[in-house]
Amino acid sequence: MAEGAEAFIVINNVSKKFGGNYVLRDISATIHLGEILGLIGRSGAGKSVLINMLRGTEEYRPDAGSVIYRFNTCNTCGHLDLPFPGRKCGKCGKDMEVQEIDFWALDKDDPLRGAIHRRIAIMLQRTFALFGDMSVIENIFEALGPDMDDHKKIDRSLELLNMVNLQHRVTHIARDLSGGEKQRCVLARQLARDPLLFLADEPTGTLDPQTADMVHETLVKAVRESGMAMVVTSHWPKAINMMADRAIWLESGEMMKIGPPEEVTKEFMVGFEPNIEKEVDVGQPLIRIENAKRYFYSYARGVVKAVDGVTFDVNEKEIIGLVGLSGAGKTTLSRLIAGLNVVSDGKVSVRVGDDWVDMSVPGPEGRGRATQYIGILHQEFTLYPFDTILQNLTVCIGINLPAELAKMKAIQTLLAVGFTRTQVDRILYAYPDTLSVGEKQRVALAQVLIREPRLVILDEPTGTMDP
Ligand SMILES: Nc1ncnc2c1ncn2[C@@H]1O[C@H](COP(=O)(O)OP(=O)(O)OP(=O)(O)O)[C@@H](O)[C@H]1O
Ligand SMILES: [Mg+2]
Repeated sequence: MAEGAEAFIVINNVSKKFGGNYVLRDISATIHLGEILGLIGRSGAGKSVLINMLRGTEEYRPDAGSVIYRFNTCNTCGHLDLPFPGRKCGKCGKDMEVQEIDFWALDKDDPLRGAIHRRIAIMLQRTFALFGDMSVIENIFEALGPDMDDHKKIDRSLELLNMVNLQHRVTHIARDLSGGEKQRCVLARQLARDPLLFLADEPTGTLDPQTADMVHETLVKAVRESGMAMVVTSHWPKAINMMADRAIWLESGEMMKIGPPEEVTKEFMVGFEPNIEKEVDVGQPLIRIENAKRYFYSYARGVVKAVDGVTFDVNEKEIIGLVGLSGAGKTTLSRLIAGLNVVSDGKVSVRVGDDWVDMSVPGPEGRGRATQYIGILHQEFTLYPFDTILQNLTVCIGINLPAELAKMKAIQTLLAVGFTRTQVDRILYAYPDTLSVGEKQRVALAQVLIREPRLVILDEPTGTMDP
């Protein structure tokens, strides 16, 4: 950000309540042209609420306060641009004038609202907004819209794919991309909209550190090149420090601190020092993996060796970590252990009592004997949207206990995954939609633990949670 840069967005004392509780309280900040503002805070702090408010999503209309956007507006064609004084319109070449727009004071159907909305790019937590069946380049064409002529479309698409380092994946089907590649494709699609403001809500939460760094760098580059502004949230100090010019620490909807990223994130981390480690005597082997292989065949990529000759044991009470880059085969290996996929070669067995169950044998006499004791939390979990959290933890997953007992068990499990008693009271009869991403993830973990499994497989369980 240049010294003394122009104010672009002014957030004035905004507050927002949901169900009588403040989720944002008296937040004020100014975002300057070209600035990257970082938001750090624990799960449920209000980061996503603020992002959605800046985006202009009606459900997140502030209860008090205002959000002022300063735009250059073309008197002739109505085109919007960043508020650089004296600039001519990029569309028709005529004069522009800086206007201050009080977004939430605009009529719901004021065309200006739509016009602003269209120039705000957004990358969300955990969702890959792509057309899965289309190729990468078709996804970019789609984002460029129908008005551009074909030659220009191809040039611009290749330029965007270069920018996000996806030039080697042009004809890949989007569904087959790795997580980091998908997120970069989303980024290219968003940049295609020629945004003035970029909102990135935990854009790299589910990516490995190396891939995440690459996405971060690409984001920063894109912002710097266009002169727009960006607001980015993350739980990770490193990500905020690397990207942001200034940072805000939010806690329970309140602004604890605003300032240089290193100072803000350092204060945020106080009290997060890791627990003292405890030695545990591990027990007998529980999982045995012998030279396991799993190959997939795909038209576009040929033979994909997702898991290739892996051997190890896991003992009782032992926690095994599978580490690897995006696409290294962690999920596939987890699925082999859980009996959701079968080995192409080699053997995976799980011990039940004194028997070893071969996980490649189907049916209740085969792996079915083990699967009932295996709990698995998927990287891409979903909760039942039309049922309350209590129902999600009981009837929805086939737990048939007397109602009072089921409720007690649900409460205990929620406490065990880190909710406080007050939070449990708030969410027990709430619907998943109203929870923050990290809160949903902990409910999904509770869904696994409430069945008292003997073996738990967690596929990236904390990708989107605070430290
Ligand atoms: N549409 C909604 N209706 C009701 N409550 C909501 C809604 N959206 C968010 N909340 C509540 O607002 C609070 C803040 O949520 P928010 O999603 O902003 O958290 P966050 O800081 O983004 O957390 P995370 O890191 O887990 O994503 C939470 O308590 C959440 O339950
Ligand atoms: Mg969030």
